[in-house]
Amino acid sequence: FSAFLTDSFGRRHSYLRISLTEKCNLRCQYCMPEEGVPLTPKADLLTTEEILTLARLFVKEGVDKIRLTGGEPLIRPDVVNIVAQLRQLEGLRTIGITTNGINLARLLPQLQKAGLSAINISLDTLVPAKFEFIVRRKGFHKVMEGIHKAIELGYSPVKVNCVVMRGLNEDELLDFVALTKGLPLDVRFIEYMPFDGNKWNFKKMVSYKEMLDTLRQRWPELEKLPEEESSTAKAFKIPGFQGQVSFITSMSEHFCGTCNRLRITADGNLKVCLFGNSEVSLRDHLRAGASEEELLSIIGAAVGRKKRQHAGMFNISQMKNRPMILIELFLTLQ
Ligand code: GTP
Ligand code: 5AD
Ligand code: SF4
Repeated sequence: FSAFLTDSFGRRHSYLRISLTEKCNLRCQYCMPEEGVPLTPKADLLTTEEILTLARLFVKEGVDKIRLTGGEPLIRPDVVNIVAQLRQLEGLRTIGITTNGINLARLLPQLQKAGLSAINISLDTLVPAKFEFIVRRKGFHKVMEGIHKAIELGYSPVKVNCVVMRGLNEDELLDFVALTKGLPLDVRFIEYMPFDGNKWNFKKMVSYKEMLDTLRQRWPELEKLPEEESSTAKAFKIPGFQGQVSFITSMSEHFCGTCNRLRITADGNLKVCLFGNSEVSLRDHLRAGASEEELLSIIGAAVGRKKRQHAGMFNISQMKNRPMILIELFLTLQ
């Protein structure tokens, strides 16, 4: 495995998240402020050719999984073409996408043909009116249609990301669990994380332990599944149910020790940690004509500076970081 993608703690970064756009057709409260965020001028965003050049380089060095994120990746007009071109890269095993689901039912047949292998869909409530409140737009039924389309086309499991916020949707945990009875879903309850402009506060966060208690009271037979390597999620299953439920505990029990992720923002910065604020512009080096060796040494230096773990719940809530929408919109951390 490439020394450039191995950090000083021996973590091998084989999973690359690429943000295809900063734009989104929703305005989720936990992701961005109501007024939106100032967008980077188009000329400063990575072109498709630049995305593919970087992807090729990372795959050559050992990346075997790429996830396309945003903003909302499905609003990039050439997203199907990007998936098709990534599919040509030898050594790339998984191409995933994390989407809000609005355009999914319409685009999925083409995306599947192009080679898309995994789908994660954000959905924080099963109540249409609440959906409109959380995302500040309409579209609940389109998202549900997207989820069903993904199941129909054979994606399994279809992952559903649910950010749990006190006072908003923590009363729906058991309804989400009920969805996994007859559908091959992995419903993932995510601890609410702080990002610039999302009004995070400690009291709004519902911890993994608290969520697990709620589930256990109703379903004492809840069974823990074996941990998957480098996964963000702790998985559980109710015997007899088709799907499973998981918890993403970025705040209360970080999983930095097994982090294998790097991300590239839509404006071409390499971000070695979701909660890190040191970034390096790969775009500028590409446009200055850097050779492959030069790019690799820049990437290797950034990976080498990666910290052992994020700074802790309190510190990251005080830290200057991008709003989520400008990271990937989805993130991942380490
Ligand atoms: P899989 O590839 O299916 O395992 O998905 P994923 O969990 O890596 O990605 P997804 O885009 O579905 O992100 C879901 C949640 O995972 C996000 O809301 C974050 O809470 C968390 N997450 C994703 N990437 C990171 C990361 O690099 N660090 C941390 N701490 N959390 C992350
Ligand atoms: N806290 C936790 N998860 C978040 N996401 C976006 N913002 C936050 C936040 N503040 C989630 C989205 C998406 C995933 C990649 O990140 O719901 O599913
Ligand atoms: Fe858009 Fe995703 Fe942010 Fe919601 S969380 S506003 S869907 S980018």
